[in-house]
Amino acid sequence: MQSGQAKKAKQSMAIAGMVPDQVEAVGKLTYEAFRDVALSHGFEPIYESLDFATRVVRSLSRLEGFTSFVASEGGQPLAVNFLDQRNDIAGVGPVAVAIEHQGRGLGRMVMEALLEQAEDCGFQSVRLLQAAYNPVSFSLYCRLGFDAKDELASLRGRPPADEDVAAAVRECTPNDLDDVDQLSLEVLGFRRRGDVEAVMPFVRPLLAEREGRLVGYTCRIPTPSGILLGPAAARDEAALKDLIVSAARLAPVDLRPVVPVSCPSLLRWALQSGFSLSELATLMVRGTYEAPAGAYMPSVWY
Ligand SMILES: CC(C)(COP(=O)(O)OP(=O)(O)OC[C@H]1O[C@@H](n2cnc3c(N)ncnc32)[C@H](O)[C@@H]1OP(=O)(O)O)[C@@H](O)C(=O)NCCC(=O)NCCS
Repeated sequence: MQSGQAKKAKQSMAIAGMVPDQVEAVGKLTYEAFRDVALSHGFEPIYESLDFATRVVRSLSRLEGFTSFVASEGGQPLAVNFLDQRNDIAGVGPVAVAIEHQGRGLGRMVMEALLEQAEDCGFQSVRLLQAAYNPVSFSLYCRLGFDAKDELASLRGRPPADEDVAAAVRECTPNDLDDVDQLSLEVLGFRRRGDVEAVMPFVRPLLAEREGRLVGYTCRIPTPSGILLGPAAARDEAALKDLIVSAARLAPVDLRPVVPVSCPSLLRWALQSGFSLSELATLMVRGTYEAPAGAYMPSVWY
């Protein structure tokens, strides 16, 4: 059901996929919207610079498996949303509305367009990470049928140099991808090969093994403020900890793991071992959801 606001906004609005000419304007509105909401709640903006936000928007508009939704008025982009269709589960975001046009139904419009496409494509589960400090996005997603399923701590720092690693940790090769898929399926209830394959050419994911058996993996994504860890899945929290410590040994920069509150021992260890909490996010799900049978870290989407 559409709200009266969304119907009103829709009358003068066109929603279409992003075209190359719109990249700069969409990058700007995304950067400004996320910066404004973060600063107004006393948090650090997700996108460190306009250039970084524009690069993210440009690459999402070109990446296979993503669909963009841009709401424009008189040719001017006012709102954007992205659907990640690379895996068994659909991902949402980034979703942003130009600051001066917020609160008039545009966020709902680009969400409804995305949900319609996800439904047409047969996705049983649509997921996103919501910045926990933002009451507007939480309310919007909740009203659209999303349920909160987990809370995630975005951490930054490095573990002590002498922290022990019990598992054997090595880099992932293309030959490992079937085993990684199988582990995702057993731990998370779904495969996420699309995520893993997308990062392989840049920085190889790390694998943890015990007695030659795969017990965990994590992707590593370099960003201007350190290496983002995830998506990851592991049989238990100890295997995920080994992966975090090993990632630190391999790169002398800050790490940015995103640890769920459903992994309490790992989270406590991280907060006692050199990591600080930057912010909390809510995992929100519309459709099917199985609680993980192990430990995990999300992608940027879920
Ligand atoms: C979040 C964002 C995309 C929402 O877009 P928007 O156009 O401002 O929102 P809309 O007007 O479409 O809808 C907001 C909905 O939340 C409701 N809402 C807003 N604040 C609320 C509150 N405090 N309590 C209850 N409901 C609230 C509105 O009534 C509306 O509900 P409705 O659609 O059922 O009428 C936009 O504010 C934005 O770009 N924020 C900055 C970037 C961002 O935070 N992105 C999301 C990251 S998780």
